[in-house]
This record gives sequence, C-alpha cells and structure tokens, in this order.
Amino acid sequence: MKIDDIRKVCVVGAGNMGHQISILAAIRGYRVSCVDVNEKQLQKARGFAEKYLPGRVAKKKLTEDQARQAWDNLEFNTDLKKAAGDADFVIEAATENLELKRKIFEKLDQVAPPHAVLATNSSFIVSSMVADVTSRPGKVCNMHFFNPALVMKCVEVVKGPHTSEETAALAMELARSLNKEPVELQKEIYGFLVNRILSAINNEALYLLDQGVASAQDIDSAVVNALGHPMGPFKLQDLTGIDLTYHVMMERYRETGDPADKPSPTVVEKYVKKEWGQKTGKGFYDYGK
Ligand code: 3HC
Repeated sequence: MKIDDIRKVCVVGAGNMGHQISILAAIRGYRVSCVDVNEKQLQKARGFAEKYLPGRVAKKKLTEDQARQAWDNLEFNTDLKKAAGDADFVIEAATENLELKRKIFEKLDQVAPPHAVLATNSSFIVSSMVADVTSRPGKVCNMHFFNPALVMKCVEVVKGPHTSEETAALAMELARSLNKEPVELQKEIYGFLVNRILSAINNEALYLLDQGVASAQDIDSAVVNALGHPMGPFKLQDLTGIDLTYHVMMERYRETGDPADKPSPTVVEKYVKKEWGQKTGKGFYDYGK
C-alpha cells in the first residue's frame, strides 16, 4: 500500500490522545472514524472538535471551508466493526492496559480489511506485545504521538522484529502527511526515545520534590526559565496524566525489578487519590472544576 491509498483512518479511543489524532487526520484530509466504547468520552471528543475547528477559523489557521471539510471527514461511533471495516490505517489509542489492547488488536484483525495497517499509539507497550494476536504482524507497529497531539511535531515510529519495512515506511509517510516530524526507531526499547529522556527528568524532579528541596512550582519555573522547556515536569505530568506516569513507572519496575524504577511516593499518593492532573481537576496544580 502507498500513502495515496490511505483514504480512511480509524482511531480507537477518544481520550486524551485519540480525539486529537482524529481531528488532526480529519484536518489533513483523511476520512476518520473515532471509535470508543464510552459514549460520554465520544461526546466529549465531538464537543472538543465542535469548538476547536471554529476556533482555528477565528485564529485564521483554517479557512471556513477547510474547517467544514474537516468536520465532514469526522465521525464518532461506538461500533468498532463499522469504524474499522473500511479503514486503510488504524491507530489504536485506548487505555494503557495490555490485556485490553490485545483484545482490541484481535478484534481489529477480524474486522479491518487485510491491507490495513494496525498501529498502536501506546506510550510504552511495544507492538510485539500485540502483533502476535493478529494474522498480519508485518502490518503492526508503534506510532507514538505526543500530547497535545494537534500541536506536538514529533511522532515515534517503532519497528518491531515483526514489522515490515513497508509498514514502517508507510507510518513515517502518514506522520509526515499529518504535518509531523517523525523519527524511526529501528528496534523496540522500553519507553522509546522521548519517554526515556522525559522520565530521567521527571524522576529527578520528583526526587527533589520528595526531598523537600523546592516546591513543584519552583522546580517547574527553574526548568522553564533555565532550560527553556515550554513547561516544567509537574505541569507536563498534569497535562499527560499522573495515572500515566504511575503506569509507565510500574511497568518499568515490573520489567527491571529495580526499586529505583518504582513510582515515587508522591506519584503513588496522587494516583491513589485520583489526583491525575487536568483530567480530574487536580494534580500537582489545582484546576478547579
Ligand atoms: N490542544 C490543542 N491545541 C493546543 C492545546 C491543547 N490542549 N494547548 C495549546 N494548544 C495550541 C494552541 O491552540 C496554540 O495554537 P496556535 O499557536 O496554532 O494558535 C498553541 O498550541 C500554543 O498554545 P498557547 O499559546 O495557548 O500555549 P503555550 O504556548 O503555552 O503552548 C503547549 C502550550 C503547546 C502545550 C506548550 O506548553 C508545550 O509545548 N508544552 C510541552 C508539551 C510536551 O512536552 N508534550 C509532550 C509530553 S510527553 C507525551 O505526550 C508522551 C506520552 O507518552 C506521555
């Protein structure tokens, strides 16, 4: 399959990442089905698109025609068979749970056309952990977007041992056609490139906080004003979700058994209290209702 053969993209999951990947692909001219089992999540995603697209027109980033076309390209539904049945490329962006993802990939393999590529946007689950439940491992890869997906330019395309050259090249081309600057990883590694680097920063920031050296606000301020990062590590975890930080660290700890990889006490406490950041209204910062 060539890039021009991709007409329809199916995005599985309308959460933090899925809704933005869907809108992005719709803006870039693809027909998109965003599918989720949770009707409320779909309504939220639809509501975001309804506000976001006119907002882009008001900011003169899209013409009215482009926004209307993007809206017409978008469809939100709860039926995986309908959403993926005529898709050329599927991006799975469901909850970070391996068993769930394996079930989704098994089902996708049954309902998506044989030529369709099945990619996962997982932050840390490598595609070889889901490729084996499909009859098309050569067409399975990681395609990892960054939050907010409508804005961040990087996409990590990760080639598993099963991934064909053609699939990796197609995922790179699709990312470019979504106006991204993709990078290609030649082999699977836990955390890929970016989350490995990011977790080194986050771990140090959490250590400094747990030691009472400085407040989250001051650590963020130092990282922004001394290192030039657009936001500090605590603001960023509030954006990406402290539940995700917890799961990423737990997964790494399970893999290495190294106590240094365990989530910090602060992360565990926030995870248990459901203070997961912007999505629950409170994380390291308070977002009110
Ligand atoms: N959704 C969509 N668009 C958004 C947005 C959101 N949540 N937040 C901001 N934007 C857009 C704005 O519309 C604006 O677009 P425009 O310039 O085209 O009009 C642009 O981003 C800049 O927005 P603002 O001026 O309001 O705000 P900032 O300049 O502070 O930028 C930010 C906000 C883009 C989020 C910036 O702070 C940033 O780059 N932060 C770092 C984000 C980051 O590091 N992401 C990677 C996280 S790691 C990850 O995702 C991996 C995963 O596995 C955990």
